[in-house]
Amino acid sequence: MSVRHFLDLSDAGGDAIAAMIGDAIDRKDARKGLPKGQPDADAPLAGRVLAMIFEKNSTRTRVSFDMAMRQLGGSAMIMEAGSMQLGRGETVADTARVLSRMVDAIMIRTDDHAKIEELARHATVPVINGLTDRSHPCQIVADLLTLVEHRKPLPGLEVAWFGDGNNVLHSIIEAAGLMKFNVRYAVPEGYEPDTEFIAAARAAGARITLYRDACEAARDADVLVTDTWVSMGQAEAEAKLSAMRPFQVDEALMGRAKHDAVFLHCLPAHVGDEVSEAVFESPASIVWDEAENRIHAQKSVLRWAFGQL
Ligand code: CP
Ligand code: NVA
Repeated sequence: MSVRHFLDLSDAGGDAIAAMIGDAIDRKDARKGLPKGQPDADAPLAGRVLAMIFEKNSTRTRVSFDMAMRQLGGSAMIMEAGSMQLGRGETVADTARVLSRMVDAIMIRTDDHAKIEELARHATVPVINGLTDRSHPCQIVADLLTLVEHRKPLPGLEVAWFGDGNNVLHSIIEAAGLMKFNVRYAVPEGYEPDTEFIAAARAAGARITLYRDACEAARDADVLVTDTWVSMGQAEAEAKLSAMRPFQVDEALMGRAKHDAVFLHCLPAHVGDEVSEAVFESPASIVWDEAENRIHAQKSVLRWAFGQL
């Protein structure tokens, strides 16, 4: 079997993502009541070590992957890129070759997607995308798991996105093509997602529709999703913030959606900007389940990368 990198959801494909969701549900259920750091009974990654490299801040991604490795019976090490030789000029290729001799898998959060592709090209162990400027596939496995748990079967689901056409939206659109749901994206002019993701999802049969009017996009939607208006590494420009304001997810918008619609946000949230406090704190908001599910989803991503799914 060739090395299984997880740079984007399409590296795994729809069947493998469905298997990850099923595995995550089973394992989450099986370990109910155990202390959080206690390994699962079968400890399927016993003896395995994951190296994590961070070139950007993170709370959920670092903690969930660390806990995921512990629960799978393995361990993880966290490295800030700035404290590595990578931070003072050692090449990505050489870093990949060295780490491949020392650890069993690498997870990296970085800016330029080309960097993770370079890492994967030179690594002989699995490389996992913990977020780049282009995509955030691990987050979306957790989001899909959360929707399935909340009795929202994915095929045919109407997912509405509001705000910036960013890395998280790219992975949602990619997931739509793989898992057969539809995405309406309500974004201001100039902040559209990459056409490459849209074209691929449409070619796979998903309906991906642009809206300029947030209310129209929300009508009868099953899921409302948003994210920060300013992603890590972007300048906080007043022009962008004012363009985003009509796209805040508020109660009026939720009121246009289906009566049992849910709200997702990958977090961290900027309450009062992309989402109102009333929606963020409402029963429709399932963001804490979504955050917890990063652990369960990341365990299944890891098991897939190690050829266990
Ligand atoms: N959602 C997410 O990736 O969170 P962190 O930036 O805290 O890892
Ligand atoms: N779009 C956000 C996601 C953070 C998890 C960012 O890239 O900063």
